[in-house]
Amino acid sequence: MCGIVGYVGNNNAQKVIVSGLHRLEYRGYDSAGLSLWNPDTGELDTVKTSGKIGELESCLEHELPPGTTRPIGIGHTRWATHGAPNQVNAHPHLSQTGDFSIVHNGIIENYSALKSRLLANGFSFTSDTDSEVLAHLIEQCYDGDLTRAVTAALEQIEGTYGICVISKLHPDKIIAARQGSPIAVGICHNETVIASDISAIVQHTDRVVFLNDGDILTATADDTEILSHKNVPIAREATLIDWDIGQIEKGGFDHFMLKEIHEQPSAIANATRGRLLLKEGTAKLDGMKMTSREISRVDRILIVACGTSLYAAMIGKYLFEDYADIPTEVQQAAEFRYRNPIIEPNTCVLAISQSGETADTLAAVREAMRKGAEVLSICNVVGSTIARETGRGVYLHAGPEIGVASTKAISCQITILTMMALIFGRTHRLSMQKGREIVDYLSQLPKLAQKVLDQETAIQAVADKYASYENAFFIGRGYMYPAALEGALKLKEISYIHAEGYHAAELKHGPIALLNGDVPLIGLALNIPGRNKTCSNLQEARARNTPVIAIATEGHRDIEKHCDDIIQIPECPEFLAPICVIIAEQLLSYYIAKLRGCEIDQPRNLAKSVTVE
Ligand code: M6R
Repeated sequence: MCGIVGYVGNNNAQKVIVSGLHRLEYRGYDSAGLSLWNPDTGELDTVKTSGKIGELESCLEHELPPGTTRPIGIGHTRWATHGAPNQVNAHPHLSQTGDFSIVHNGIIENYSALKSRLLANGFSFTSDTDSEVLAHLIEQCYDGDLTRAVTAALEQIEGTYGICVISKLHPDKIIAARQGSPIAVGICHNETVIASDISAIVQHTDRVVFLNDGDILTATADDTEILSHKNVPIAREATLIDWDIGQIEKGGFDHFMLKEIHEQPSAIANATRGRLLLKEGTAKLDGMKMTSREISRVDRILIVACGTSLYAAMIGKYLFEDYADIPTEVQQAAEFRYRNPIIEPNTCVLAISQSGETADTLAAVREAMRKGAEVLSICNVVGSTIARETGRGVYLHAGPEIGVASTKAISCQITILTMMALIFGRTHRLSMQKGREIVDYLSQLPKLAQKVLDQETAIQAVADKYASYENAFFIGRGYMYPAALEGALKLKEISYIHAEGYHAAELKHGPIALLNGDVPLIGLALNIPGRNKTCSNLQEARARNTPVIAIATEGHRDIEKHCDDIIQIPECPEFLAPICVIIAEQLLSYYIAKLRGCEIDQPRNLAKSVTVE
């Protein structure tokens, strides 16, 4: 969940690392730091601070005046797990003598035992982190060979890590290693950039090598060598990353979240490009790597995911059951991994993850594979661990999503799920005619998404009216139920308003006790099955003085009598309605959060990618 950048080469390491840390700030942002080797003194200069990269830059101005070009260094932006987010706990951590400096993502589970042993051997600690033990262990294991020292230290560690290490005794190399926490290596000319996330690398090169668990990398400016945990040299293929740098800039928008909301029509167009087959009434997703025969044998689908991806999965359940007649179960990934789940021979497991790095989803994938299941994935980040380990998967092609809130990822996830349901449906009982209708609607989806975005000013006006409330409920039925859950998640994570999503029918089973004039209710009452019953629920809420906002199909004026405010959605079929509603909810949440002065792209306590349990 933290971000790592390492650099060795002919350029100014400080500049490269700080700019890389800015790119990674969305992964963790409570403290930051860097270590650079100073060729004038032969020492490691280390600067750390609580707060964001901007604060680190101010410290650097005072503590490392310009004049010396430092050719090698490592940096870190932190999301605290062990120890408060303050200056001493920020990374990098130095060994006792200051000869070695490390940055670490992940959790060292046996750190207490290691710490006691190191203390008994005369080492002293300055931080409360688990990571500091690693710096001391490397020093303890050092016999003149840095790679060997890191390998020996890592052998003593239980837990997860992505690390970079430098030493003033070897000022030409960075050692990096991975176990459960991603590390990518940018292949450049006369320099090597290492990072926990490709967004810190793409401005230097489009050729990236991803470390696998157990790999140990030794990198100099012009060479990289990867050893397996058994000390055997390994050749890893470079992946070509086709991001352009504009995709990771704000492009004139105030926030990445707003930019990414507005990118949805083009992101959906990219997700469907070349994949819809109108004549055959189906889709093709080559990444699934399944023959029609294999697909036709699937008699159960089990989807695992977390957070917003879990809500996309819930919509996937409706799609697979309605269009492919395949019983589908959705499990929160952590629940799946610890439950000894039942996987029958014809069960297809599907993992959904924007980042492709979520720890629980990855562990669920590994558990499913261990049990012999066919595992498919839907990921956005190319080369991510889940995409690589499943081997069979579909990329969203939504482009990088930098805002912590998932926006274009969920609409593309649902788009891909619709295409998958279509493929499964056409190999089961779905007619060509029905298939063509779905393909036709899918090809119009970018336009539909744009029509929702065209409501921005009207949605902003609703946001103005409701931004000061401290609680909110979202309700919906059928396809609108997961959309209600997602609406509540989006609002709470970026505006800090306490928001809950409920099935509309559940309101009377308890939550209605909380309704009063201070708790606005957002009712998803589109012109699709279930609408009339949801309208009755809106009435029940209004009878308790609850302010009601209806998200409703445009042109259906009778909704006015059930609500105080309306957000209009274009007419669309039931299976596409969640995408339209979710886009409206994103705009509503964004403008409410903006009015409340929240840190929209980096909400408190959150990180883009949850790589620890
Ligand atoms: O990368 P993933 O899709 O696996 O991430 C799952 C969740 O952490 C993520 O969707 C999270 O809930 C977002 N902050 C929601 O906006």
